[in-house]
Amino acid sequence: MITREKSIELLNRAVNDELTAVHQYMYFHFRLDDMGYDLLSTYFKRTAIEEMMHVEMLAERILFLKGEVEMKPSHAVEKIHDAKSMLIKAEAMETQTINDYNQFAQEASAALDSATKKLFEDLILQEERHQDQFDTEKENLETYGDSYLALQSIEHAKKASANTLTT
Ligand SMILES: [Fe+2]
Ligand SMILES: [Fe+2]
Repeated sequence: MITREKSIELLNRAVNDELTAVHQYMYFHFRLDDMGYDLLSTYFKRTAIEEMMHVEMLAERILFLKGEVEMKPSHAVEKIHDAKSMLIKAEAMETQTINDYNQFAQEASAALDSATKKLFEDLILQEERHQDQFDTEKENLETYGDSYLALQSIEHAKKASANTLTT
């Protein structure tokens, strides 16, 4: 029988990192929503949902390999309150994940588990998209400054008043 213990360990480390991302991005989502920054708030919620789907993909593979899924985040949520610091943190998290999954893909390959290697490679593509998205938002914030956030607040206020008128 082929042992897949190495793969199960790598997949669970990835589950822990994905859960950290779900918690951290949902925290950013709540904070930004509270400040009325609709666009950024929605980005973080959508990304958190995608990270949750990554947990599911990893968990399915772990169960297929007859392992147990360890549902614990690797890090506590950092209580960051300003938008730019959130984007810097999110981009750093994605970079770390991309580096980790490249490493995990190599280790899965060395353990002769091509399917797990491919799963990590598929995830890398999505994490690179997340990283690019956060980088773009960070650049927008640097280029347009506070007016970039103010515009989002104005849009939020317009929507709120439109809702008041129609209800
Ligand atoms: Fe992910
Ligand atoms: Fe991600």
